[in-house]
Amino acid sequence: MVARIETEADIQAMREAGRCASRVLEMIGEYVQPGVSTEALNERCHRFIVEELDCIPAPLNYGGGGGQMPFPKSICTSVNHVVCHGIPTVSKVLKNGDAINIDITVIKNGFHGDTSKMFFAGEPGVLARRLATVTQECMYLGIEQVRPGNCLGDIGHAIQQHAEKNRFSVVREFCGHGIGKVFHDDPQVLHYGRPGAGMTLEEGMSFTIEPMINAGKRHIKILPDQWTAVTKDHKLSAQWEHTLRVTADGAEIFTLREEERI
Ligand code: MF3
Ligand code: CO
Ligand code: CO
Repeated sequence: MVARIETEADIQAMREAGRCASRVLEMIGEYVQPGVSTEALNERCHRFIVEELDCIPAPLNYGGGGGQMPFPKSICTSVNHVVCHGIPTVSKVLKNGDAINIDITVIKNGFHGDTSKMFFAGEPGVLARRLATVTQECMYLGIEQVRPGNCLGDIGHAIQQHAEKNRFSVVREFCGHGIGKVFHDDPQVLHYGRPGAGMTLEEGMSFTIEPMINAGKRHIKILPDQWTAVTKDHKLSAQWEHTLRVTADGAEIFTLREEERI
């Protein structure tokens, strides 16, 4: 079933969940520095989510159906050539120039807020910075396509066009998703596609847009830990994510950060 957020109470609950998720990204930025481990970032986020925000970290023990190991940590930390679902560890210590996606999903009063952004430890190289910028632009261009009457394909097309114009590639194995009381609901929001294709958007639909864009080829592989997705060619990957709802004339982004408000 396609996720819908339609009553005033549900909309308010998604605003709260989204704001909580965005506050975690606002909080963690200053701690992303050379020398910090991804596990230290996980522990700091976990404490903030549970103690300050009174939320549940949705990734912790998520999944595990079909013999898969449940996700063992509270956030995803995906460094450099890691595409998504990187597992925080004490041994992964950030070094100067590393690019890291931190992906936060919280549950507040039964509703999910899911958002991620790119950070840099120290000074990134030119390519890492350009890939992160173009990927963020891809996400915003996708969000600009969100309005009743447009299609999911319009979103995917806008993202793919911008990525490929910059000679980057779009990861196809992962997509945005319906979200609300359920973490990963229908519809699947592909980050590539054709204008006019796919499901028509209606007011009240609630989903994420979370493009993963690679500097090299689009192909990925999953590591033996069953979660970590990396680029096959080991070139850089970047991702940004927001949770939103289709409104009468556009989109309401539930996970907007202070730095994004105009
Ligand atoms: N937050 C990811 C998403 O955007 C999902 C993480 S699931 C986990 O959909 F188990 F890997 F944490
Ligand atoms: Co998501
Ligand atoms: Co996410």
